[in-house]
Amino acid sequence: MTALEIRNKYLEFFKEHGHKVIPSAPLIPENDPSVLFTTAGMHPLVPYLLGEKHPQGTRLTDYQKCLRTVDIDEVGDNRHLTFFEMLGNWSLGDYFKEESIKMSYEFLTKVLNIPVEKISVTCFAGDKDAPRDEETAKIWEKCGIFKNNIYFFGKDDNWWIAGEEGPCGPDTEMFYDTGKEPCSPNCNPSCNCGKYVEIWNNVFMQYYKNKDGKYEQLKQKNVDTGLGLERMAMLLQGKETPYDTELFAPIMQKLKELATNDNISSRRIVAEHLRSSIMVISDGGRPSNIDRGYILRRLIRRMTRHLNKLGINLNLISELIDLNIENLKEMYPELINNRETIKNVIIEEKNKFMKTLEHGQKEFNKAVEKAKTENKTEIDGQTMFKLYETYGFPPEVTKELAEEQGFSVNLEEFDKLFKEHQEKSRQGSEVKFKGGLADQNEQTIAYHTATHLLHKALQIVLGDHAKQKGSNITTERLRFDFSHPQKVTKEELEEVERIVNEQIQKDLKVVCEEMTLEEAKASGATGLFEDKYGDKVKVYSIGDFSKEICGGPHVEHTKGMGTFKIKKEEASSAGVRRIKAVLIKE
Ligand code: SER
Repeated sequence: MTALEIRNKYLEFFKEHGHKVIPSAPLIPENDPSVLFTTAGMHPLVPYLLGEKHPQGTRLTDYQKCLRTVDIDEVGDNRHLTFFEMLGNWSLGDYFKEESIKMSYEFLTKVLNIPVEKISVTCFAGDKDAPRDEETAKIWEKCGIFKNNIYFFGKDDNWWIAGEEGPCGPDTEMFYDTGKEPCSPNCNPSCNCGKYVEIWNNVFMQYYKNKDGKYEQLKQKNVDTGLGLERMAMLLQGKETPYDTELFAPIMQKLKELATNDNISSRRIVAEHLRSSIMVISDGGRPSNIDRGYILRRLIRRMTRHLNKLGINLNLISELIDLNIENLKEMYPELINNRETIKNVIIEEKNKFMKTLEHGQKEFNKAVEKAKTENKTEIDGQTMFKLYETYGFPPEVTKELAEEQGFSVNLEEFDKLFKEHQEKSRQGSEVKFKGGLADQNEQTIAYHTATHLLHKALQIVLGDHAKQKGSNITTERLRFDFSHPQKVTKEELEEVERIVNEQIQKDLKVVCEEMTLEEAKASGATGLFEDKYGDKVKVYSIGDFSKEICGGPHVEHTKGMGTFKIKKEEASSAGVRRIKAVLIKE
């Protein structure tokens, strides 16, 4: 069964069970400052898990493009991936444990035809925060899972939360037994030896972990599930690694043909990082030195180094991108239109890196010589940082170069210097600030409403062409990108501020209505990213002033939002301006 077939069967199955299929959100989240990339299917749904009403109802299913980079330097082994697709189904206060487990069981055994003896499941063992989940175990047993294949583990294994704070709960995970010999008499699904492979995770999301680490009951009991598509394809096809499936095999084969100095780990790194880079760029990512741009930079640079290592002519990158797009276009049709941009961005970044690679390599060799004379076995963080800052060497590149020479690296020291260098800690990990996922507090909600007011005010002052191009909200400020050919004058900015504050003062009521996309358009609502909407949408009106299609949430009344103040206006890219603004509370 191909990955695409698995995806289609999944969506079909949950559709038959009353779920609405919603489109994949972009890899780069809109309006969610807490993460760099979408790392799970539940990300775009956080407001709804917290109780916000979803326009498509209480049963949803989708496939979601995800990127996780915590294990970026493990890529090259036989299992780690950065980009992957997560299939998911959700109950937003609808069904709970019993129905969720029954559906998972049916899908695995009847649709995918996995023999029941190959499935093991794990349940939450219980602790001071939540009880032992006997209920889940009983339901599995009733479905037909062998009693011996049901395990209980603690929070480390059977509790799910994204980040430090947010919706969470006990989960039950499903494992596929590959049939390998157990690594020890105690071998079980929590073991990493490769006998058991996790295939699906159903989270029974009924708690909210707050800032103080306390668990509160959520307004509603939700189910959030995630099934890793690449892994499932690998198992069902009886392959050893995801690289042996149709998702990667043609690229791996091509790289093998082209390599004059073949090694499998480099080929995997090239195939994996190239696919991730393509997906990130297609969703709007661009290389830079901070945040998600830095992750993309690392992916492209590491890929470039390994192409070099394989002895493959770097001018063949364009051909490799074509091959990738050819291979993925049925699953991600958006790649077809973005082909030229993808190529330009990757090739430009590769060229930048190549310019410094040689000098950086010399600098690196010097550092190795020095370390040898000093009888050290480690490349220190200072050297790593210099290689990063002056020659653009991502830390994992330096680490690999060092390891090839039998040296280790001091990553902690590098991280410390890197953090000091950037205003805020923005490297590596996707979770950007302690608040965890989708910090829907009073402040961010007010900024969300202010964004709509600003959008409308800009159109009044500058003209209808001033359309939203991007938006980002933190607890400290809003940032808004919009199309406009030249600098916005001081007078224009003052007028925009005045209009926004006038609306806030009027204490306008914010009203949310649900309708079809067509009805929304006909009602004159501004739509921003049409392809992302499902067939039912929410439209937020702020008095008679503004009307936008939007997921929410928003304030109920504008008064009390504070005084709106524009802090900065600057160019964002060609033909796009950027405003940063704050709300000052009296
Ligand atoms: N949120 C859970 C996960 O990422 C289930 O979707 O595994």
